[in-house]
Amino acid sequence: MSEKRKKVAIGLLGSGTVGEAVQDFIFDGLKGKIGGDLQLEIVKVYTRRPKGKKWQRSRPSLFTANPREVVDHPKAEIIVEALGFQQERQLDGFKDLIIRALKNGKAVVTADKAVLAKYGKEIWEAVAKYRGELRFEACVAGGVPIIRSLRESFAAEEPEAIYGIVNGTCNYILSEMGRNGKSYEAALREAQQRGYAEANPSADTGGRDAEAKLILLAAVAFGLHLKPGQLWRNGIEEIHALDFLYAAQKGRSTIKQLVMARRENRSVETYISPVLVPEGHVLAAIDGATNAVFFKGKRSGEAARDWNYLFAGPGAGGGPTAVAILGDVCELARGRGGAPRGPLNLFRSGSPAVLAKTERIRGSFYVRLVVKDRAGIVGDICQTLGKAGINVSEIWQLDHSREEREALALSCRIKENPQTILPFVITLERAAVGQVKKALKVIEGRSYILAKPLWFPIWRNE
Ligand SMILES: NC(=O)c1ccc[n+]([C@@H]2O[C@H](COP(=O)([O-])OP(=O)(O)OC[C@H]3O[C@@H](n4cnc5c(N)ncnc54)[C@H](OP(=O)(O)O)[C@@H]3O)[C@@H](O)[C@H]2O)c1
Repeated sequence: MSEKRKKVAIGLLGSGTVGEAVQDFIFDGLKGKIGGDLQLEIVKVYTRRPKGKKWQRSRPSLFTANPREVVDHPKAEIIVEALGFQQERQLDGFKDLIIRALKNGKAVVTADKAVLAKYGKEIWEAVAKYRGELRFEACVAGGVPIIRSLRESFAAEEPEAIYGIVNGTCNYILSEMGRNGKSYEAALREAQQRGYAEANPSADTGGRDAEAKLILLAAVAFGLHLKPGQLWRNGIEEIHALDFLYAAQKGRSTIKQLVMARRENRSVETYISPVLVPEGHVLAAIDGATNAVFFKGKRSGEAARDWNYLFAGPGAGGGPTAVAILGDVCELARGRGGAPRGPLNLFRSGSPAVLAKTERIRGSFYVRLVVKDRAGIVGDICQTLGKAGINVSEIWQLDHSREEREALALSCRIKENPQTILPFVITLERAAVGQVKKALKVIEGRSYILAKPLWFPIWRNE
């Protein structure tokens, strides 16, 4: 067999967890030989502080602290962007580097969902203007090949809905709470010790990281151009171990942090939120730092039917992310003529969908309340919900130990004697988010309410 391989020169922006893993594959593991036909070579690596980087010792001239030496490098055909940011304004500079690379005629592969979510429009305009190429498989669900599947493999499917577990930190924390009864704080601490959560975990636990990924998924599947801040976003910080008891014992369910984009007529509903997922559903079984995307396709016409697909795998970490990056690099290196340009679902006909207003998103909901134990409360709550046109489906109440009440009081910062507090759950029949918000605002103002009601969607049978 001929050993002649096509040479591909790469410029690398970033030498952190991901950038270094890309170098490991090329310098060490695969020695640049990929797929039997390619010989990858890194011609320049940018990092803020090159000194002391793993591969800098043996290849000092490869490293630079000037990113322009990478994007302007005459030999580099493909620029891999694997930069991290501390403050959002730094993304502006990353966007400029991507656009400069495109202007220089280079193809770009990025792992940086934040820059694409925030500056997607400008970046895709530059791709079109300079007739360039951009790939971003590594941005969503790490090593799981979901973007390519949505863009190409599902060309014959009509996307109906996408549900994803795309944040390993949240999934790890919730899995530990659900499986091992840990408190939120203990599960978070453990995630940090194992390297699954940052010292400041708020971008993950508050849903901002998942929001950026949902923006990319919704662009690819539905042609939506969304911006951070436009979507209904709930984090996991208020979930308590007790919620898992109600979910399991009363609802035969568990709680998962999901991203969702679902077509409803001509609009697309989206959210990032904890969701009550039935124990029997495949997504309920996705534990730990694993990521998964559940895609529901539809076929209209005479042979109408729905098909469900599940993608799952390692969602983060240098190795899996580098695998996704190098997959994109190979695709570009092989010159995939005719591959779709831009994130729009260009391979589908029809006008792009519009984002449904948050207030109009409809669903059934889980509502956990913590009240001062006295008569008449449930009646008042049901009446208030009824006035807002919302039907109560079930009321769930469990006996709680002294320790459970104390833990709840502590995490909800309730000053009352823990023995006098009463947690319980109400499930609501289908209603609009706007209706529920309004009714809960009234209920929250009642003197018997001790903590802000926690509420989130219940899985809709798909
Ligand atoms: N880690 C994962 O599992 C994962 C998975 C999927 C996608 N991603 C994405 O991949 C990208 C890189 O992630 P990572 O985990 O490798 O991050 P990281 O370990 O923090 O490395 C970030 C790199 O960017 C450089 N950098 C940081 N702040 C910068 C700034 N303000 N200006 C210029 N350069 C800066 C760093 O330079 P120094 O080395 O000199 O500090 C480093 O080379 C991010 O966009 C991330 O969202 C990461």
